[in-house]
Amino acid sequence: MKTRTVKVAPSILSADFTRLGEEIQDAERSGCDLLHVDVMDGHFVPNLTIGPPVIRWIRKITKLPLDVHLMIEDPLKSLEDYRKAGSDWLTVHVEAARDIRPALDWIKQSGAKAGISLRPRTALETILPYLGLLDLVLIMTVEPGFGGQSFMADQLEKVRRLRSDFSGMISVDGGVNQETAPVCIAAGADILVAGTAVFGNRNRAEAIAGLRGAR
Ligand code: DX5
Ligand code: ZN
Repeated sequence: MKTRTVKVAPSILSADFTRLGEEIQDAERSGCDLLHVDVMDGHFVPNLTIGPPVIRWIRKITKLPLDVHLMIEDPLKSLEDYRKAGSDWLTVHVEAARDIRPALDWIKQSGAKAGISLRPRTALETILPYLGLLDLVLIMTVEPGFGGQSFMADQLEKVRRLRSDFSGMISVDGGVNQETAPVCIAAGADILVAGTAVFGNRNRAEAIAGLRGAR
């Protein structure tokens, strides 16, 4: 059987924001590969998190690539701010603009890795026209907006279908833990995003190894 090394991207949404620097450095020391930063604008999703100023501070205290998941409307307007703040990967939602292509083009020309994401109820077909532009597809396995929700196993069909005709990275986000990681990996995921499973466990090294080692 072909073995791929799965990457683990802890989502800081579940970290203790009063100690954010220590939380991030703990995750970094514990062997994660990327840092997943959930940006929510209170419009595209009914929750509000952080923006470029906080990302700028995060950039100073970690060498981890910043995998920034933009759950914001009309992302093209603010991509430059997120890029300048230090985002290495920028993922936008296909539902977030009438035409998402200019945002993807902007990300590519900025030198960042370009990602697209879709809500559970959005059909995979909506992102197929952009595959040639993309480094990453982020499959949501919960309704975007909050951490700590239950994994939607039916979304793995999107991972399986994508795996056959997309050579870039496939990331799975929402409800990923030691129990659900094996099916994500089996479906073809390259990256596991996990908030609760990493920051909800005092032993981050054990949590990360548990996700990565899940088969
Ligand atoms: C949800 C976010 C996720 C979330 C995952 O909108 O995109 O990244 O933080 O959290 P868990 O792992 O707790 O489901
Ligand atoms: Zn996310």
